[in-house]
Amino acid sequence: MFAVTADRIDPADPLSGLGLGEHSEPVPKPGWTTVRVRASALNHHDLWTLRGVGISPDRLPIILGADAAGVDESGREVIVHAVVGDVAAGGGDETLDPRRSLLSEVYDGTLAERVSVPVRNLVPKPAEMSWEHAACLPTAWLTAYRMIFVRSGATPPNTILVQGAGGGVATALIVLAHAAGFRVWATSRDGTKRERALALGADAAFEPGTRLPERVDVVMETVGAATWDHSLKSLKPGGRIVICGATSGANPPADLNRVFFLQLSVVGSTMGTIDELSALVNFCLANKVRPLVDSTFGLRNARGAFERLASGEAFGKIVLTNP
Ligand SMILES: NC(=O)c1ccc[n+]([C@@H]2O[C@H](COP(=O)([O-])OP(=O)(O)OC[C@H]3O[C@@H](n4cnc5c(N)ncnc54)[C@H](OP(=O)(O)O)[C@@H]3O)[C@@H](O)[C@H]2O)c1
Repeated sequence: MFAVTADRIDPADPLSGLGLGEHSEPVPKPGWTTVRVRASALNHHDLWTLRGVGISPDRLPIILGADAAGVDESGREVIVHAVVGDVAAGGGDETLDPRRSLLSEVYDGTLAERVSVPVRNLVPKPAEMSWEHAACLPTAWLTAYRMIFVRSGATPPNTILVQGAGGGVATALIVLAHAAGFRVWATSRDGTKRERALALGADAAFEPGTRLPERVDVVMETVGAATWDHSLKSLKPGGRIVICGATSGANPPADLNRVFFLQLSVVGSTMGTIDELSALVNFCLANKVRPLVDSTFGLRNARGAFERLASGEAFGKIVLTNP
């Protein structure tokens, strides 16, 4: 089958390790099933893998990709949950299983014609949702859903600041928080992206680092070092940062005086449970919202999709289709 793989790690030139070509079929395992992938989506995670973050070289070559929607062995249209974990080992939450992994970290991922996944990792795809939209949900959109509805502790109409508006997680945060009735503010380095954030549902958009009209209840962080100082300074006393990523660097000054003096909380968030994925699908249907797709490429043209992801110019999700 055709697949997109990480063949080699190169922190400076991640796309040089990208492989496109024939790959062996998934080997059936007890408790696992094979899904024919109709659409998949890229995440920054795929670039991290090619840079050698979160993966050891002995796993290579490995098929990239955590997101997929497709058809299971019984012909059902399904969305694939990307977290491979033991619910019991995580105390009822597979994301807290100390041994959990995402597809493409230990097991082959979704950027292929077929992917093998645990049987429990399938959620029905609603007929009224396209393959492309369904494929965007399992990673960026699920992460955004958990950040807002599970980890933030915020309730509408609290104000949520989303840093780095253009990213896959960030656009999901804007759409979901707006649909849920929060006041949503966003930052982006790019004026056009700020305009697009407003069109998506943000109530205001600012350049990164701008002093805001007032302090906010929650900041959603995916950018890390480049925006961390602004995130801390933008919070009300007692406010909370929910962080799921650190694209621009993971070790900014912590400004601990501000954290304790203003009684701030810093809360990590990673992916979500399969029940949260089902809830996200229902939320999208009930609120008539769909993932924002930046661009769509055929699976065999994945290199162009990776170049777009690496450029930082995308606004929303980059999707690969395999009709
Ligand atoms: N923990 C989890 O479960 C989980 C799940 C999904 C993603 N993540 C992580 O979250 C991060 C975002 O993922 P993604 O897939 O949404 O990535 P993405 O689509 O590539 O988003 C990148 C966005 O970050 C902003 N950005 C990047 N570098 C920046 C810089 N130097 N200064 C300011 N802003 C910068 C940009 O916003 P503007 O151009 O608008 O300024 C850009 O649109 C990644 O680090 C990823 O690994 C974690």
